[in-house]
Amino acid sequence: MKILVVGGAGYIGSICAELLLDQGHEIAVFDNLCEGHRSALDPRARFIEGDLQDRQAIDSALALAQPEAVMHFAASALVSESMRDPSKYFRNNISNGLNLLDAMVAARVQQIVFSSTCAIFGPPERLPIDETAPTRPINPYGESKLAFEKILRWYNEIYGLKFVSLRYFNAAGASANFGEDHRVETHLIPNTLKVALGQKPHVEIFGTDYETPDGTCIRDYIHIVDLARAHILALGAPRSELYNLGTGGGASVRDVIAACRKVTGKKIDTVERPRRPGDPPRLIASSDKIKNELGWQPQFQSLDAIIESAWKWHQKFPNGYGD
Ligand code: UFG
Repeated sequence: MKILVVGGAGYIGSICAELLLDQGHEIAVFDNLCEGHRSALDPRARFIEGDLQDRQAIDSALALAQPEAVMHFAASALVSESMRDPSKYFRNNISNGLNLLDAMVAARVQQIVFSSTCAIFGPPERLPIDETAPTRPINPYGESKLAFEKILRWYNEIYGLKFVSLRYFNAAGASANFGEDHRVETHLIPNTLKVALGQKPHVEIFGTDYETPDGTCIRDYIHIVDLARAHILALGAPRSELYNLGTGGGASVRDVIAACRKVTGKKIDTVERPRRPGDPPRLIASSDKIKNELGWQPQFQSLDAIIESAWKWHQKFPNGYGD
């Protein structure tokens, strides 16, 4: 298929683009390089530099790429930043996303795969979180993604735009070529591996007084390649749907740091800090729906295997993409 990957120079988008190219699809990447990196662009993809604020730029990209489907990864995606700057999240994730949808309707592109998040749920009443769980986000990031899912429902009903929304839990790990490099790194695994690389003196643990067995937050870490494979399956979904995407395993912050010590063989110092605003204590996915309906199965089940892939990439590219 011909696919426009919006945000394809970022962490998740670059690896999805790589996998799509490996499978013989024709890919164009649209990215403003504000979070993405030029060297995260797969050389087999056509690159169109542009911003979702600019409707004309999107129209031109669609005219150039003539896609049959769009994958939309371009968003602001940090919980803590969204608590300080909600406007950025509502603008980038809702208004700019609407520009993309309107351009798709005008160009008669009829299918979108959307990067959603477990942050739409907020603190769950029960675990694991399936698609029937109530959506009560506790941060503007989750709220912005939830609003966009609702918009997608109406565009589907009114314009027949088919969508699959994938609610990622915690994306982690790397492929051989592409990995996680944010200009300001806030994520637990890369921050911990930077300590192992000697680039940081210690990793901070945000909150040790949660009601969890070891007092730190629990997350469901899913390998980025498994996540990318779900996007490819989503292209063949028979109808518009919402799917949760995780491995169903829960690891605390301390578990992750212990696994990083084991995988890297390095002593990793920690410093305990207060809770980070907007963090729910436990998020674990039920992915039964996507397994049953689309036949998705994660290949990386263990946290060690996920961290090993990240560690290989960080050792190969200690300065990330270098920009
Ligand atoms: N954490 C630390 N130290 C760090 C970084 C993170 O203790 O240096 C903690 C966080 O407080 C959190 C856990 O590790 O409890 C995981 O934090 P990340 O920043 O790695 O990931 P988040 O769970 O905050 O974010 C991820 C995705 C978001 C998504 C969110 C849902 O990146 O897009 O899950 O909560 F919205």
